[in-house]
Amino acid sequence: MRIYKAKNYDDMSRKAANIISAQIIMKPDCVLGLATGSTPLGAYRHLVEWYEKGDLDFSEVITVNLDEYKGLTRDNPQSYYYFMNENLFGKVNIDKNRTYLPDGTEPDSNTACQKYNEILKAVGAPDLQLLGLGHNGHIGFNEPGESFSTETHCITLSEQTIKANARFFATEEEVPRQAYTMGIKTIMSANKILLIVSGEAKADIVKEAFFGPITPHVPASILQLHPNVFLVADEAALSKC
Ligand code: F6R
Repeated sequence: MRIYKAKNYDDMSRKAANIISAQIIMKPDCVLGLATGSTPLGAYRHLVEWYEKGDLDFSEVITVNLDEYKGLTRDNPQSYYYFMNENLFGKVNIDKNRTYLPDGTEPDSNTACQKYNEILKAVGAPDLQLLGLGHNGHIGFNEPGESFSTETHCITLSEQTIKANARFFATEEEVPRQAYTMGIKTIMSANKILLIVSGEAKADIVKEAFFGPITPHVPASILQLHPNVFLVADEAALSKC
């Protein structure tokens, strides 16, 4: 694992966007695994800015997102489909037919997960998978205690994740209790992994995940076994390492 220490959130975002843009420049038809949440917002803003300047071309890029809430429609502002359109896809020249997320509107979990697994197999392993880190060590929505060998599956969100994500909803009750997520096995199949982390609130989990034992109780700890991980974190997130 290569660790890049950034001064602050903006510096982390710029470094992460640089790595993503290098991937797109080196392989214009690359498969990018993407994440939502607040951490990647700054990196997405940089990518949009560089696209607007003419430095980046997304026309051949394929994207696969990590996860989607079960039950939210695409026009729901809290859905990850909506998030990706708002923050990236709607602002660059990406072909929307080459962007994929699990289908949150599919009520049958088996069907939704099987369909997404088929898509992931058809597009092939991500050249670069972007990840954020949950306060409990989750990656995607793979919560503590799950097996490391999963593909796409339906997950019941932990209380901690519901509380952490409630900030995006009017009330905590509105946070969907289930989501479809890419599994750890699929995440680990990516050629390169870019993990971004910011803020003191994540300092304990960064230390536990990357300097502690590899255990399903800290899902991100499995990344210690991946040969090509770039951890870009700010000083606050690395303050306990
Ligand atoms: C989002 C995702 C999650 C987040 C994590 C951190 O697609 O899969 O694992 O990356 O919950 O979220 P933020 O960035 O909001 O702290």
